[in-house]
Amino acid sequence: MELKDFLIEQWLNPMDSKAKHNLGSSCVKAMTMDELFRVTGQDEEAFLKEMSTMSLHYHHGDSTGSPRVKKAVCGLYPKGNVKPEHVMMVHGGTGANDIVICGLMEHGDNIVVVKPTYQQQYDIPKSLGMETRELMLKEEEDYILNMDDLREMVDKNTKLIALSNPNNPTGQTLYDKELKELVEIAKSVDAYILCDEIYRGMDEEYMPSIMDYGYDKCISISSMSKMFSMAGTRIGWIVAKDEYAYRNFENRRSYNTICCGIMDENVASVALENYEKVWARARSILVPNKKIVYDWINAHPHLHVRGDAKGTTCLVRYDYDIESTALAVDAMETAQILFCHGACFEMPGYIRIGYGAFGDPQKLREALAALGEYLKKYEQ
Ligand SMILES: Cc1ncc(COP(=O)(O)O)c(C=O)c1O
Repeated sequence: MELKDFLIEQWLNPMDSKAKHNLGSSCVKAMTMDELFRVTGQDEEAFLKEMSTMSLHYHHGDSTGSPRVKKAVCGLYPKGNVKPEHVMMVHGGTGANDIVICGLMEHGDNIVVVKPTYQQQYDIPKSLGMETRELMLKEEEDYILNMDDLREMVDKNTKLIALSNPNNPTGQTLYDKELKELVEIAKSVDAYILCDEIYRGMDEEYMPSIMDYGYDKCISISSMSKMFSMAGTRIGWIVAKDEYAYRNFENRRSYNTICCGIMDENVASVALENYEKVWARARSILVPNKKIVYDWINAHPHLHVRGDAKGTTCLVRYDYDIESTALAVDAMETAQILFCHGACFEMPGYIRIGYGAFGDPQKLREALAALGEYLKKYEQ
């Protein structure tokens, strides 16, 4: 089966270093090692000393992740009764989505994917020849999942319901009430839920996880890339309580991962053990930046945004008479402004603006001013 081009990665990765104004990224500004230790208050010297005497063998006992990192991941799920044996470290959120989908789907199954979302969640099952049912979030409903639509779409052959929460690209987020309903719907057809929670953590108060609802077929995946600002560690994880699922993931992971980098797991552990501090740093960047972006959009009558984004990006509809891929290519070529075009989410007529990578809000203002200036040519 054909595996479609991964549009967002193919568009953004080569452009990243060429852009003068980068509104494409969905990461929060990356930390250095020094900053990680400053933010967490941990002893960097002692850490480096320990690292320098570590054996560089595959892993130290448990190939699914070091006891330290797995325990630290459990801390992100205080209401989910998550234990280290439910956690599996993998290569990023990409590794996690891939392992979960490939590890669970069998012929005769269908998957219901809530869109727009990260392309992996629908194009991997399609490439496996699986029936892939796509449930589109509606702009007029502020991109909040419509439970009646979901109820209609699932049936007894639904193996998996896949979504991102907070959602990429819209940033819209399901909370307690909706997550409970989602779990009830999954339970009614005995389906697993794959919830990509890579953007969880922007609220100061507790943000629920899919693991909080006592249904063992819930699977949470996440990584160090977004709210933890450490994408280069390539550390991600899967949390799965269901033994059959966990065993399948472990087997598939043996084929494509064996184990994660032991040094990467150690660095990630420092951030995970102090996640409140690392998320507070992310929040201190995201909250003011989001306001700058929303104020800017609201001052532009040809641009429209809905809801209240809780991730690192928002999805913007525009009234201009140009398709979004052509718009993004031209903006890069003529003004070196990078943003993600809607085709990456099968939503032409939209662009995604990422505001997390700007440590300096002034740079974000400059990028938006440049984009505003660039867009004027479509307003005649
Ligand atoms: C929803 C979602 N899941 C997964 C990923 C992949 O992240 P990672 O760098 O952890 O592989 C991304 C990256 O943008 C994402 O937006």
